[in-house]
Amino acid sequence: MTTTRHQAKIETRSLTVSFDEKRVLTPIDVSIAAHGVTALIGPSGCGKSTFLRALNRMHDTVERAEVSGEVLLDGEDIYHRDVDPVAVRRRVGMVFQRPNPLPGSIFDNVAFGLRVAGHTAPQAIPERVERALRRAALWSEVKDRLRAPASALSGGQQQRLCIARAIAIEPDVLLMDEPCSALDPIATEHVEALITELKARYTVVLVTHSLAQARRVSDHTAFFYLGALVEFGPSERVLLAPDDERTRSYVRGAIG
Ligand SMILES: Nc1ncnc2c1ncn2[C@@H]1O[C@H](COP(=O)(O)OP(=O)(O)O)[C@@H](O)[C@H]1O
Ligand SMILES: [Mg+2]
Repeated sequence: MTTTRHQAKIETRSLTVSFDEKRVLTPIDVSIAAHGVTALIGPSGCGKSTFLRALNRMHDTVERAEVSGEVLLDGEDIYHRDVDPVAVRRRVGMVFQRPNPLPGSIFDNVAFGLRVAGHTAPQAIPERVERALRRAALWSEVKDRLRAPASALSGGQQQRLCIARAIAIEPDVLLMDEPCSALDPIATEHVEALITELKARYTVVLVTHSLAQARRVSDHTAFFYLGALVEFGPSERVLLAPDDERTRSYVRGAIG
């Protein structure tokens, strides 16, 4: 497929998701530029996570879920029948709401993805683990105890460890679903600072419950309401001077 220089990193075309034939997203067309943070905001149950998960084919594993439309990653549809979902997830990493470290050591958590992908020579793994932990702003806190169990880390450290695990395999895109909602304000500050750094290298799509967080870290904001993408644009405009009445109600705290 041909690529053009100014294309979006991710573009959706009439993307919808249904569960048991019930549509929970009205067809969504959106274009997300590379190297920035896009925040997805809106009340609970309005489809933010469903949309996010469609961007790396996470619904594939859910029997009653059906995705239609297209998700172009660098101009190529990730749902095309010739595309391997495992390869998609290598390019589009995911970080969840609750830190979900694997059983095992700090080192093994970050090495996991490299070992599974099988592209990294065993002797190169320690260096890749160090690089990912440095990029996740965790290295100085764990370098002397890489063999300690991941479960010994604080919640905020565990979330940065999960980010290190996601970026160890060097994806292009990082999807984050409310990554700070289980963290205290100090840990949240660490993770937000990290998100701001990561956007130099990755395209970040971040679901957040916090308008203040969207304001602090995002470049673009998408407002979801009842399964529809109501408004999308530069965060400053969407959060401070939205066009749509529903967005206005949400950002002034009248709904959701
Ligand atoms: N696995 C699933 N099975 C059935 N319905 C689901 C599933 N996941 C999400 N939904 C439904 O899709 C809608 C959107 O949910 P979700 O994307 O989780 O919203 P949000 O992340 O904005 O809170 C909700 O009505 C929810 O009940
Ligand atoms: Mg959600």
